[in-house]
Amino acid sequence: MYAAHFNLALTPFSLTPDTQFYVGLPQHQAALAVLNTALNAGEGFIKVTGEVGTGKTLLCRLLLKQAPPDWQLAYLPDPSVTPFELRWALAAELGLKYSANIDASQLLQLLQRQLILLAQNGKKIILIIDEAQALPDDTLESLRLLTNLETERRKLLQVVLFGQPELDQRLASQQFRQLRQRISFAYLLPVMSSAQIRYYVRQRLQIAGATPALFNRFALAAISRYSRGIPRLVNLLAHKGLMLAYGEGKSGVSARHIRFAAMDTDDTRPAHRRYPWLLAGATIFSAACYAWLLR
Ligand SMILES: Nc1ncnc2c1ncn2[C@@H]1O[C@H](COP(=O)(O)OP(=O)(O)O)[C@@H](O)[C@H]1O
Ligand SMILES: [Mg+2]
Repeated sequence: MYAAHFNLALTPFSLTPDTQFYVGLPQHQAALAVLNTALNAGEGFIKVTGEVGTGKTLLCRLLLKQAPPDWQLAYLPDPSVTPFELRWALAAELGLKYSANIDASQLLQLLQRQLILLAQNGKKIILIIDEAQALPDDTLESLRLLTNLETERRKLLQVVLFGQPELDQRLASQQFRQLRQRISFAYLLPVMSSAQIRYYVRQRLQIAGATPALFNRFALAAISRYSRGIPRLVNLLAHKGLMLAYGEGKSGVSARHIRFAAMDTDDTRPAHRRYPWLLAGATIFSAACYAWLLR
């Protein structure tokens, strides 16, 4: 809605993980490098964890997009499935045709045969699971059993787990110690520093065809303060800031717009949430002034 007003070709701060807007921040570049190295080395399990909104789904999509032709990828965006459903999903992703009334062991056999066939054709088969913290216990365990399938030379299935930090807490339990020991490569996505946030905002603006000066220095500092370095919150604040500036007919976004945007956004840190006593103090003070005036 504000695109025409600010001369934008695209919406710069949408919430969808759009690879066109990828900004090569060091943490995301490092995560991709770890993934590429580990997958090329044939590792069985690789794990990438990060807080909500730090770019995990975007990394999944980049991995899918940048995969070399000899990688056969299977992508599971929502893993809240039973072990049986997981095998169905994997079979479907690997292009298996099967009748709906086969039982669990027949399905496993079919899968194994398909994995061997693909491997013989020089394919590396990689299962990518997003939101892995939501995998039920038995499905998580069945994943380990699936990766037991191997030829004498290499693993038939490699698994990449993307998840929130709760995934680590779950893996830390005694029950998953075998799986935990299989995870040979892990990467923890850090949040952005202030300098990275400034770079991130400018890059996204540039991709959208805007002038980088659309957000002044104070607006960028406010985004940095309220977002805690989380890309999704940066997008939300920047988008709302643009809407507010547009509503006022302004040509750019100021720190005041971002402050208002933060008050309207859950999970950010406006002053009144960080310091509830400040709000309470201000209310009591103004009530006292009012009482004094009316006395
Ligand atoms: N390096 C980056 N470059 C561009 N956009 C990013 C980057 N990292 C995160 N984002 C954006 O932040 C938002 C949240 O990312 P997402 O992948 O959905 O996070 P998560 O899956 O970790 O919750 C998305 O809009 C995504 O495009
Ligand atoms: Mg996600």
